[in-house]
Amino acid sequence: MKITYYGHSAFGIQCPNGMRVLIDPFITGNPLAPVQMEDMQADFIIVTHAHGDHVGDALQIADRTKAEIITVTELGYIIEPKGYKVHGMQIGGACDYPFGRVKFTMALHGSRTDEGEYAGLASGALITCGDTTIYHTGDTGIFYDMKLIGEMNKIDYMLLPIGGFYTMDIADAVKAVELVRPRIAIPMHYNTFPIISADPQEFCKRVKEKGFDCIVMKPGASI
Ligand code: NI
Ligand code: MN
Repeated sequence: MKITYYGHSAFGIQCPNGMRVLIDPFITGNPLAPVQMEDMQADFIIVTHAHGDHVGDALQIADRTKAEIITVTELGYIIEPKGYKVHGMQIGGACDYPFGRVKFTMALHGSRTDEGEYAGLASGALITCGDTTIYHTGDTGIFYDMKLIGEMNKIDYMLLPIGGFYTMDIADAVKAVELVRPRIAIPMHYNTFPIISADPQEFCKRVKEKGFDCIVMKPGASI
């Protein structure tokens, strides 16, 4: 599996079978984005919640690539009538897709579109393709049920916010890593805007002190 970071909470996954999945593709207006929205390819796009910095360019990319959008059902009800192929999911439910399996997880966060429509619950996602599982927490505060997610799933990569203000800060995120016990933690949702400034190296240093591996991905980098 190849994981590419686009800054903020935007990631691309290339699964072993060649299928491409984007998560929260906020490119236009994302000062950290290393690519143009026009250059992004996708077979599926996962959107964790309705905020503009997560829906991002999902619709424009779907227009061009015909990618299917996987999101919380209530946000799906808003997007689908605009002419998009949407697969709505609910927290706790899982579905097998051509690229692999997706299970939606809880996230302690709001969800409202830029147009002002309330869009149901915010989510995170467990994404398994090949033999690798990613836990993209979405925007969230820390919650103790993360421990359960870690106990019931072998998480290879945990992608989690560290920027504070809207989400967990570094201290909370380090604790979240201890709860989930992933093989590798990757920080996201920081330094996009001054209000979510955080030092990812400091986060990784503290994660490693707790005995877990941690990688700071530069926007544009792949692992
Ligand atoms: Ni948000
Ligand atoms: Mn956000």
